[in-house]
Amino acid sequence: MNPAVSFARKVRVFALVVPCLLPWLSGCELDPYPAELTYPLRSDPIVTSPPGSTRWDTTAPGQFEIHIAHLSDPEIGGKTLDPAKLPDKERSQLAAALNEIFGTPAAPTVYLKDADQQLTDALTELKLDKETLAKGSILYRRHCMHCHGVTGDGRGPTGPWVNPTPRDYRQGLFKFMSTDVHVTNRKPRRADLRRTLERGIEGTSMPSFGLFEEAEKEALVSYVIHLSLRGECERYTMEPILDGSGLEGSVRDKVVELLGDFLQAWAKSDAKGIEPGAYPYKEGDPDHLQASIRRGFKLFTDPRGSASCINCHVDFGRQAPFRYDKWGTLVRPANLTTGVYRGGRRPIDIYWRIRGGIDPSQMPRADFDDQTANKEQWRDHADPYWDLVNFVQALPYPQMLPEDIRNSIYGSRRTKTEHAQR
Ligand code: HEC
Ligand code: HEC
Repeated sequence: MNPAVSFARKVRVFALVVPCLLPWLSGCELDPYPAELTYPLRSDPIVTSPPGSTRWDTTAPGQFEIHIAHLSDPEIGGKTLDPAKLPDKERSQLAAALNEIFGTPAAPTVYLKDADQQLTDALTELKLDKETLAKGSILYRRHCMHCHGVTGDGRGPTGPWVNPTPRDYRQGLFKFMSTDVHVTNRKPRRADLRRTLERGIEGTSMPSFGLFEEAEKEALVSYVIHLSLRGECERYTMEPILDGSGLEGSVRDKVVELLGDFLQAWAKSDAKGIEPGAYPYKEGDPDHLQASIRRGFKLFTDPRGSASCINCHVDFGRQAPFRYDKWGTLVRPANLTTGVYRGGRRPIDIYWRIRGGIDPSQMPRADFDDQTANKEQWRDHADPYWDLVNFVQALPYPQMLPEDIRNSIYGSRRTKTEHAQR
């Protein structure tokens, strides 16, 4: 055959075959979960009270379950409950109620039989409809499950091998939120989860999914909320049965009641964010900035102030021991001289962290709103939150700090314990 004709034919065959392969190559055609799969009931210990002590080491790779299993040892001092002790009757009632309301991994729902208008609105606002959740579950299975687990327990096959461990959504606890501080049972806003997804979490194994389409990101956020609601209902129904305080009505009534409460907390959180005071200083004015950094430094290092940052971030985090978070895992007050921020590095991200705290990591929120209680300290601060933000942002860059502060933090004359009061 004429070589030119043979080549042209090859090109034609190639042009026909490649488009057929593309969806497979790009991963567009993702498999859903098997239809018969149900969400398993939780079997790992429920951490009801993490130990209050600090430690110098963290958990070795793969040792996560062993670490959690030992939390309630007397010398460690945490408190846990064992779901294996759930009586058979309650166990099957709980499984039935959760399956009725939350469906299966392939057909996830947040279904409330006699939902009133308020709850129906919450379901709509939070985009917890069947179609969105089904789409979210397909993407989750491919991209998230290996870390975050089928039920969102943070125990996928990769989970025990990364530190920090992937988020366990089932406690209803999240770290990086912009939610108004006065909302009870604060949850992240959809925009917060979106941001985490888009950026990933710097300094951890949580990747960025910024290249996903809008609808994909929205569906994943809905699915994370679904898993969190399911897990939180499961946990707080199990807890009173296991600790002996008992339930007032049926197991199903309890799940429905809890779902109502948690849905409202999510909806209220989504509706109201922290509103930062306008930036009070002249932008680009080095004198204003230096004065603000100086005030922020003073606040940060005051061991008695309402914002006793230095008590946890010992030596600005360079000598900070690990503490237990609410999941019972170990977390270290950030080393703020490195400039690595898990929740984002924009000034507004740092503002949200300081103003709202990082609740599950037990970092309290700084509260200067009650001006009368701190009159003396407050007087020379135009806006203490922004002063702290300015200081924290300058801290990793010695040249941005006023000279005396630079020397006290980085200078050779710095004594080992100068900023380590503990
Ligand atoms: C390689 C492991 C890994 C994969 C894959 C992964 N994550 Fe994560 N994720 C993490 C880790 C680790 C954390 C916790 C970091 C921390 O505690 O600071 C986390 C935290 C989160 C959080 C909690 C943020 C907060 O404010 O507390 C959300 C939400 C989240 N991931 C969603 C997802 C979604 C959705 C996917 C899939 C599209 C995904 N993750 C894939 C490891 C992973
Ligand atoms: C009770 C202990 C405690 C106190 C007090 C505390 N922090 Fe933290 N802080 C932590 C812990 C723990 C973390 C790490 C959280 C994590 O990664 O889950 C942290 C993290 C941070 C981060 C990093 C956030 C990120 O995105 O990675 C900043 C910034 C921060 N703290 C600033 C402050 C400031 C400013 C103050 C004082 C107003 C303060 N902290 C007081 C414990 C504390």
